[in-house]
Amino acid sequence: MPFAEPRHVERTEDCLFYHSIELPGLGLVEGLWDLREVADDYLGGIDVQGKRVLDVGTASGFLTFTLERKGAEVISFDIGDDANYDFVPYADPSYDIEALRESARKRVQDLRNSYWLAHRLLASKARAVYGDVYDLPADLPQLDVVLFGMILGHLRDPFAALHAAARLTPPTIVITNQTAEHDIGSGPYAHFMPTPENREPNAWWGLSVGCLTQMLDVLGYDVVDVRSLWPLCLAEGRVGKEHCSSIVAKRR
Ligand SMILES: C[S@@+](CC[C@H](N)C(=O)[O-])C[C@H]1O[C@@H](n2cnc3c(N)ncnc32)[C@H](O)[C@@H]1O
Repeated sequence: MPFAEPRHVERTEDCLFYHSIELPGLGLVEGLWDLREVADDYLGGIDVQGKRVLDVGTASGFLTFTLERKGAEVISFDIGDDANYDFVPYADPSYDIEALRESARKRVQDLRNSYWLAHRLLASKARAVYGDVYDLPADLPQLDVVLFGMILGHLRDPFAALHAAARLTPPTIVITNQTAEHDIGSGPYAHFMPTPENREPNAWWGLSVGCLTQMLDVLGYDVVDVRSLWPLCLAEGRVGKEHCSSIVAKRR
């Protein structure tokens, strides 16, 4: 099995917290997103008691630990040591993609540290796997649910990542993504987000609910529920609630 060795992490100074999370002995540690109020809807409202869930793009692991509390056995997945993120290849010579890759390699380790610190303090039994989202390990134990929380828009090829999950034949796929507030029921639209002006390094796609539904349909999954929710973003310069949709799909 491809599971990672747990890391012993003591200090929050060694961590980058993506999620706000309550930790025994430390209290509330603030991250870039606070999902606590919307966690049930973020997870599509599904019953995970006794289910094995793959949390794709676990970051600091808030969703993993929440799923565990709800009775799931969780495998947390995130990017490998190479931190080979899909950075947008802007042509402008002043755009230094190598510097981005270099800083990503450090950030990935700090992010992982936040997961393992929380994992230890919460006495989590979740197992972690690191690797390539387009090539999810085929030797994982059979999964009941694959969760894609806020990751597909950061990938150059979100359909390939969904295909990699569908190959593992989970009965349920849950996608939670930022979406326009009124797009439920809209057409299958993908908004290509990078421009030479915004230089977004890895915000690739705004995907409509209709687009994600159609991708899932192609892969043999029917959408059975869509929820609208407003998680709290705490990132500098954009503090506030932002609209998301969670989509639950069942294998035909
Ligand atoms: C925006 S965060 C979402 C965190 C969490 N799933 C949530 O919904 O709150 C995206 C996560 O996906 C991971 N990620 C991004 N690109 C990836 C890739 N190509 N392979 C594996 N993980 C990736 C990042 O490291 C990060 O942990």
